[in-house]
Amino acid sequence: MGLFWRRTIRAPVNPFDLSRPLFRVSDADIVTLGQACEGVLICGATGAGKTSGPGDLIARALLNAGAGFLVLCAKTDECERWERLCREAGRAADFVRFGPGGPAKLDVLQYALSMPGGSIDAVAQLLDQLADLSSRSSGSGGDDKFWQLLAAKIARRCIAIARLGAGAPTLAEVRRVLASLPHTPEEAVSREWALNSFAGRCLAAAVDHKLTGADARLLEQCGAFVEEWAALSDKTRSIGYTMVDNVLDRFLFGEMAGLVAAGETTLSPEDVLAGKVVVLDVPVLRYREPARFTQLAWKLLVQRRVLQRDVRANPRPVVIWSDEAQFFVCPSADCMAQSVARQARMVTVMMTQSVPLLVQELGGTPKAEQEVTALLTNLQTKVLCQNTCPVTNEAFSKLLGEHRDVLYSGSSQMGNEFDFVGDLMGATPAASCSYSEQYRPQYPPWKFGLLSKGGPPGFAVEAVVFQGGRVWSNGRTWLVSTFEQPRR
Ligand SMILES: Nc1ncnc2c1ncn2[C@@H]1O[C@H](COP(=O)(O)OP(=O)(O)OP(=O)(O)O)[C@@H](O)[C@H]1O
Ligand SMILES: [Mg+2]
Repeated sequence: MGLFWRRTIRAPVNPFDLSRPLFRVSDADIVTLGQACEGVLICGATGAGKTSGPGDLIARALLNAGAGFLVLCAKTDECERWERLCREAGRAADFVRFGPGGPAKLDVLQYALSMPGGSIDAVAQLLDQLADLSSRSSGSGGDDKFWQLLAAKIARRCIAIARLGAGAPTLAEVRRVLASLPHTPEEAVSREWALNSFAGRCLAAAVDHKLTGADARLLEQCGAFVEEWAALSDKTRSIGYTMVDNVLDRFLFGEMAGLVAAGETTLSPEDVLAGKVVVLDVPVLRYREPARFTQLAWKLLVQRRVLQRDVRANPRPVVIWSDEAQFFVCPSADCMAQSVARQARMVTVMMTQSVPLLVQELGGTPKAEQEVTALLTNLQTKVLCQNTCPVTNEAFSKLLGEHRDVLYSGSSQMGNEFDFVGDLMGATPAASCSYSEQYRPQYPPWKFGLLSKGGPPGFAVEAVVFQGGRVWSNGRTWLVSTFEQPRR
């Protein structure tokens, strides 16, 4: 694997300085840590060499830089790969697996309430973001503002009621509140409901505590919500219930429950900030939607935590690594996080096959198209591997710019035989010549299809590298780089 170590640059003066060289894309062109903080996209067809080519190089470079990692997993062998990468980079002690059968646990709700800047509103916003993604993947009208607002309000109030009753509630308790809300206005004010339902008991306990200030106001709002809820029509109530319960269910059903909703936290975003390489070994391709939500929750929490830390006290870069990123995109959070990532020293690395795939995962709507465009714009370094997707190739070809071509055309009416008389009389054969200037792509879409995908005999992956606002040493805004694959 010699070439990696030549191309991955080591021995910095200040390891976390943004000007720290990270890796080379040619003999004369270096990508720095600061540039990586502006986001990295690796795009290419399946088998184009994304993971084993540029992905491998950039992962090693960031491990060498001492960064903390959150690694999101889609494929079943991702965790093993990261364990090996950590070992080879001398970071074996930092490797931590989060997955079924392991000791690591994160109670998402408790952490989100107790983390710096944590609040009921912050947690509810997280659930809103997940509910939005959930409704897109189920195709159930993610754009309907009324239902989104209703679900957001229900989630907020249920968390609040659980907190009033349980102090540091778990997601299971939030769900118990949701399931025990009254069904009629009469029930809402009845003694039976207050005594026998979980939600009623939470509120009664809060009343007994004679709360003051913000907590007293919260109790009042929760009481008003219970009455409002009971007065809703059955249909409205059941849709609202289902929307919130769907999100809670992702965390509370099956293997995820023991990891993210067990009332216990032994591993959290704090560990990522402290330099651990946390690998979420709940691959989406095996555990499906619940695993996707578990990983999204982790990602949103790490993003929040990184963005509000004091970088002077802790300047260590934090990497959010998502291979098969289409499963882990959250447009509202990602775009916001990316816009301040450099300042916060957060490196987002996303790998995916194509633009349409991202759009599809976000619901396939025109809104999803805009979100994907915004997201890809925000990832400044683009490493474009072999691809045959016409939409993706067209989009990136446009990005790489055009150049002016002069096209010549000409015609002649001279026959095959020599015209002796015409020649004597001085007649010249009819001929014309014209030229036109046209702007044509510097890197036409079809050329992405020809880039090398690696494998034997050369084990070299080719990719076009583009960085917003940069002219490379070849005088262009793009260059074709070669990335060696590790041979085993
Ligand atoms: N270490 C290696 N030695 C030899 N061949 C390899 C090695 N790693 C990957 N390959 C081969 O190189 C090609 C590119 O593999 P890679 O997994 O990096 O592609 P990818 O773009 O990440 O694909 P996908 O989108 O399916 O994840 C594949 O044909 C793979 O079998
Ligand atoms: Mg891959």
